[in-house]
Order: sequence, then C-alpha cells, then structure tokens
Amino acid sequence: MNKPVVAVTRKLPPVTETRMMELFEARLNENDRPLGAADILAKCDGADVLVPTVTDVIDADLIAALPDSIRLIANFGVGVNHIDLAAAAARTIQVTNTPGVLTEDTADLTIALLLSVPRRLVEGARLAATGKWTGWTPTFMMGHRVTGKRLGIIGMGRIGQAVARRARGFGISIHYHNRRRLHPEIEEELEATYWESLDQMLAHMDLISVNCPQTPDTYHLLNAERLDKLQPHAVIVNTARGGIIDEAALVERLEAGAIAGAGLDVYENEPAIHPKLLALDNVVLSPHLGSATHEGRIAMGEKVIINIKTFSDGHVPLDRVLDGIDV
Ligand code: DGY
Repeated sequence: MNKPVVAVTRKLPPVTETRMMELFEARLNENDRPLGAADILAKCDGADVLVPTVTDVIDADLIAALPDSIRLIANFGVGVNHIDLAAAAARTIQVTNTPGVLTEDTADLTIALLLSVPRRLVEGARLAATGKWTGWTPTFMMGHRVTGKRLGIIGMGRIGQAVARRARGFGISIHYHNRRRLHPEIEEELEATYWESLDQMLAHMDLISVNCPQTPDTYHLLNAERLDKLQPHAVIVNTARGGIIDEAALVERLEAGAIAGAGLDVYENEPAIHPKLLALDNVVLSPHLGSATHEGRIAMGEKVIINIKTFSDGHVPLDRVLDGIDV
C-alpha cells in the first residue's frame, strides 16, 4: 500500500519527523521558514494530509484552494482557531487536534503567571539584573499575596481544571464560568463555585485565568465592557488565545490602573505584541510558551502521527474536531 503523503508546515521535534519519515511520505519544513498560503498550497499538491500549526492561517480561501487529494488536516496543537472548520466540513475534509497532552504544561505556565504578576517577580528580576537594586527595606517592592484570593477561571475544560487543582494548593478559592456546568463530583473535588453569569463572576474575582478555546463565540469575550466589571486590584492571566481579550481595551485599563496587572502568554496578532504592553511594569509577557516543553511537544507529535495513521487505515481518528473543542 502507498504511504500517505503528508505536508508539514513547520519544523517538528526530531523524533516526530523521524517517525513521520518512516510511516509516511513526509514533506517536512527543514529550515522552519514560515509558509504563506501559496507555499502551503504548493506543498499540498498531490498530498493526502496537511499538518499545520497555530502560525498558519488555514482560512476559507486556502481550504477552497486545497487539492482534492487532501482529506485530513491534522493540526499540531490543541487550539484550532486558525482553521476554518466550517470550510473544512463543507469540503468533507476532517480536522484533528492534539488534546490532553499539553494540559499540565499549560496549567503550569498559567500558575507561573498567576504568581509572577502579583509578586512582581519579573519587575524584580529586571531590577536585580540591571544592578540597580539598592537593598532590602521594609517597604521595598511589595506585591500582593495570592493565598486566600478568589480565582475566576473562564473555560473549565482540561486545562481550566488543571489550573484549579494547582491553585487549590496555594489556598486560592476556585470559581468558574463555562458553557456547561461541571459534574457535581468534579465541582466537589475542586471545591469550585459555578457562575452562570460571566459578568457577575468578573465583578467578584481577585484573579482571572482565561482557559477557553477561541471560537467565533469567544472572540473578544473580554471586551471593554466586560473588562470594566473587574475590580481595580484584579489580575488577569491569558494562556489560551490572544483574540479572547480585546488587547487594546486591556492596555488602556492597565495603563489607567483600572486593572492591577496582567500575565499574557498569547496575543491578538502574534508574534506582534501591542507596543504599549511592552512599556508597562504591571505585566508579565511570555512568548506563547504554554505547551513548550520537550515532553509536551513530543507527545503532540505522537498524537498527530496516530491521528494520521488511524485515518489512513480507514478509521475515525480519536481527536477529530467537530463543532466545538474542549481544551
Ligand atoms: C496549542 O496547542 O493550542 C498551542 O497553543 C500551540 O498551538
């Protein structure tokens, strides 16, 4: 039987690429040059499967122009906001993602941001590194305690729940807003309080963590009006997708002191970061590192391979993305 021809848009972990070359006729991107639409289409000519990542725009126009031979888009990543799912469905192209294997890593990074912002860790590290620290004083660089605070998690899928488990260890109380309420046993385990109204939850929290997928429904979910519900001492952390928060509205409120601080791993127009964010002291900015561990990325590669293999063997891949996804 012929090996499936697989078009890969970015450089993947070496073990993933080696295994792909054994199992498939893999068209890799050895120098990791970002590909535009024309490059992706050229790579897909005569291919069976496209393997994109979050840096590719797989929109309706690109999907319409894909050759008929492409039957599967096996995304390397859990978020699929960069893929027009309706356009793929209209061409009966299946889409898969890589859920589950980056949950713990993303939750770890979320906690790192949730601690770093109130404790002014990056601001302090910057001061120490520039040699400008003049010594300890009783009032030097005071931040805020997280123990005893209320954390509102927006999106209580796998990652949201993993954040909640960790936050409980810091004595933080857990609140959440989600499309569906959790099963009572999980709510009980996490001692989590469900808020049907996001607006109400926002108004009562000290810390906010964004952990929902970006979909047309969650785009700018945290718009100016919603951000105005937050208390001035609130800190907001986003390790999901930049488009869920109106970045310009967030910047305005951070500058004005209407929100105390933000920890951001994702941005509306990556890799560009709003220039005003770069000038603020009350933010911690990381460059989309949520799933960036060797272990996580290798496991993501493994999922992509299993999805392609299952599909090309004539079975329904386990990680098939339908209308909505849980991260
Ligand atoms: C994910 O898997 O969604 C990561 O953010 C990278 O795309």
